[in-house]
Amino acid sequence: MSLVLLSLAALCLGAMPPEPMIQCGSENGPSPEWMVSHTLTPGDLRDLRVEPVAMDDYSILMNISWILRADASIRFLKATKICVTGKSNFQSYSCVRCNYTEAFQTQTRPSGGKWTYSYIGFPVELNTLYFIGAHNIPNANMNEDSPSMSVNFTSPGCVDRVMKYKKKCIELGSLWDPNITACKKDKKTVEVNFTTSPIGNRYMTVIQNYTVIGTAELELQQSKRTRTSVMVAVTGESEGAMVQLTPYFHTCGNDCIRRKGTVVLCPQTGVSFPPDASGSVLSGWLPLLLLVLLVAEWVLAVGIYLMWRHEKIKTSFPTTILLSPIKVLVVYPSEICFHHTICYFTEFLQTHCRSEVILDKWQKKKIAEMGLVQWLTTQKNEADKVIFLLSNDINTVCDGTCGKSKASPHENSQDLFPLAFNLFCSDLRSQIHLCKYVVVNFREADTKDDYNALNVCPKYRLMKDATAFCTELLHVKQHVPVGKRLRACHNSCSSM
Ligand SMILES: *[C@@H]1O[C@H](CO)[C@@H](O)[C@H](O)[C@H]1NC(C)=O
Ligand SMILES: *[C@@H]1O[C@H](CO)[C@@H](O)[C@H](O)[C@H]1NC(C)=O
Ligand SMILES: *[C@@H]1O[C@H](CO)[C@@H](O)[C@H](O)[C@H]1NC(C)=O
Ligand SMILES: *[C@@H]1O[C@H](CO)[C@@H](O)[C@H](O)[C@H]1NC(C)=O
Ligand SMILES: *[C@@H]1O[C@H](CO)[C@@H](O)[C@H](O)[C@H]1NC(C)=O
Ligand SMILES: *[C@@H]1O[C@H](CO)[C@@H](O)[C@H](O)[C@H]1NC(C)=O
Repeated sequence: MSLVLLSLAALCLGAMPPEPMIQCGSENGPSPEWMVSHTLTPGDLRDLRVEPVAMDDYSILMNISWILRADASIRFLKATKICVTGKSNFQSYSCVRCNYTEAFQTQTRPSGGKWTYSYIGFPVELNTLYFIGAHNIPNANMNEDSPSMSVNFTSPGCVDRVMKYKKKCIELGSLWDPNITACKKDKKTVEVNFTTSPIGNRYMTVIQNYTVIGTAELELQQSKRTRTSVMVAVTGESEGAMVQLTPYFHTCGNDCIRRKGTVVLCPQTGVSFPPDASGSVLSGWLPLLLLVLLVAEWVLAVGIYLMWRHEKIKTSFPTTILLSPIKVLVVYPSEICFHHTICYFTEFLQTHCRSEVILDKWQKKKIAEMGLVQWLTTQKNEADKVIFLLSNDINTVCDGTCGKSKASPHENSQDLFPLAFNLFCSDLRSQIHLCKYVVVNFREADTKDDYNALNVCPKYRLMKDATAFCTELLHVKQHVPVGKRLRACHNSCSSM
């Protein structure tokens, strides 16, 4: 009896061979199969994909998956080798070899699908370009074309939905959910509620629609998770405006991940619908009442709009001709994190101060052709304003969210800041040229001793003085004819 069972089991096993699985291990050198000649080799892969996955230990690894080609050559397939090259500040290279535990008997799975495998490994760093190449083993002979497949993968920064679980990102506050809610209390006040983080106690709230219309700073006694409420005084229409919340965590200083929200109208507490009891009596009336109200409101809105248009046509004309952008040259110390700080500042200038920004990082080719000194001199002459950006609390942990440049903060071979300072120093002594220079600090700070000549320039703190700063910039172009510009500028200087 037992003999019969055994032979039955053997029959079953014979009919259904075990499916090949993979066993992977690192193999950085050439594969042993490379040394011997093979008359028959497997074809290449059909597909190769990479995606990052978050692991339980707060690391991010690659999930590399591949599909085998369903052809007869699959019978010769023994293993698949995958190599990954990473390119960020330094280059990395490593390979794994995944052996198939059985020889392939069929071109497709017994269930009908294609043979698909995946390997989880290779740590993923932030903002890094990876080349992933894979080939089947045994590979083709030395002087034959070896079929292989490759894909590129660029890992995102901490704002990404997977990367945010990386340990480094968590330390920068990536998992903090401030859950910002903001509403317009009245013409001059916006109420902003948010949840503070256990890793920081200082926050800056900025309300902006086209320009900054209000700011507020919050400093708690201690760092903890709590729902807080901040009243922000605003100088313009705040409904629909954007709220930007900047935390200052010790791990990232001025370069922490910023969060955004939108200002809505506060719920009107005075006007509430009648309670349910009388509601049943009113319910028949209500739709009719609402309809009447709606029509009345519509008529009113059309009336106001027509009046407004009438006014607008009369008054808007002079403002429209002022809209040529201001050229701004931004000079910053090389230690400042380019991605976060400079990009953010540039975006602010472009979107809120109608400026065209000149940055060395974007003109590398021109600088290479002209030389840095010549380039600086030319740009200074072309620019309406030169901004010296200072940061007293330097932090180099960057999170690339600005796509314009892939450069790392340490890449600067020549430091722009001291050169520009020395080059423009003589201007700082002349009243006429002085008005071209502005100093912007990210925090309350004295100008560094080395650069105290800059103390004569108007100084602003971002984002606290953002409105005044924009006004100063826009002041340059009061639509003065070119010849008169210097004098107009001079006047604005002496009145500071
Ligand atoms: C895969 O097979 C090769 C050659 O037979 C062997 O040298 C290697 O150790 C195997 N790797 C693993 C992870 O089993
Ligand atoms: C890896 O990718 C494969 C193919 O897309 C998928 O089936 C598998 O579930 C992924 N593994 C993890 C841990 O995400
Ligand atoms: C990967 O990137 C390199 C360099 O940017 C490029 O030459 C190559 O064509 C890319 N390959 C794929 C498959 O996108
Ligand atoms: C965000 O705050 C609102 C209002 O306080 C609350 O209703 C909501 O549940 C919160 N959402 C999350 C994800 O905490
Ligand atoms: C903020 O919180 C206060 C107190 O919990 C609440 O009364 C108010 O409606 C909230 N405002 C917003 C904009 O969420
Ligand atoms: C932004 O502010 C301006 C000036 O205060 C106002 O005219 C405009 O309606 C505001 N825009 C939005 C979207 O609220």
